[in-house]
Amino acid sequence: PVNADLYSDVKIAIIGGSGLYHLDNLKVLGEINPETPWGHPSDKIIISETPDGHKIAFLARHGRGHFLNPSEVPARANIAALKHIGVEVILAFSAVGSLREEIKPRDFVLPSQIVDRTKGIRPSTYFENGVTAHVGFADPFDKELSDIIFAQGNVCEGVTFHTNKTLVCMEGPAFSTRAESHMYRSWGCDIINMSVLPEAKLAREAEIGYQMVCMSTDYDCWKETEEAVSVEAVIANLGANSDNAKKLLLAVIPAVTKALDAGELKSVAALQGANKYAVIT
Ligand code: ADE
Repeated sequence: PVNADLYSDVKIAIIGGSGLYHLDNLKVLGEINPETPWGHPSDKIIISETPDGHKIAFLARHGRGHFLNPSEVPARANIAALKHIGVEVILAFSAVGSLREEIKPRDFVLPSQIVDRTKGIRPSTYFENGVTAHVGFADPFDKELSDIIFAQGNVCEGVTFHTNKTLVCMEGPAFSTRAESHMYRSWGCDIINMSVLPEAKLAREAEIGYQMVCMSTDYDCWKETEEAVSVEAVIANLGANSDNAKKLLLAVIPAVTKALDAGELKSVAALQGANKYAVIT
């Protein structure tokens, strides 16, 4: 039996990507493992508390032992489980490669757009098998959340934050070829990962506000002066990014809670019930 009191007032969920498996600067209050119609989430959901008493839910996207590759992540179960416990906002972290000179390894990026290279490969909707709906996804991220995160960025000393960038989501698990990397640059993409989809799309279907915080680990392989992207290079930057993410959250969680409680997150409020008219019966 799940103690519903444990998560009753949790409105914010953090999804951790590669390198961010634990928020060990927060106090753990308990863990839950809800079963959804799409199975269990990637790992147990950890309910934790910030030093100033804000409760959040944390989920490691690849599992706490990184046993799920991006194509194996049970995204529908993850988002359904977070919805089930009452989450209204998801702050999702992800390691990314940079497709731009000015986005350096260890920089943080708050993207505003996505190019989907996983379409048709990963299950990406709750609306099937007789329930048809076409939800709006023109702006896949939440600008108000992005603004709040950006405003707190100064707590990460020495980290440059970039906003309003385009994230291309590739299938993986192997990295891109050089030709693909150049092609994504020519398409106007700024950063690349394997994890934003279908997660962001499912959050929209579930009427949960969603913003990804991307943490650059490498220059992908377009940059000829760099060695081709290697797992070693990526891992070397993950630790520093993870420390910065934890620091950032100590400032961002209270700020998002305050904005939610004050009714200032208009976009999140507008999502509640928004898909009612997207369902075609
Ligand atoms: N995640 C981190 N670096 C990446 C890259 N270069 N390509 C795709 N996903 C990544």
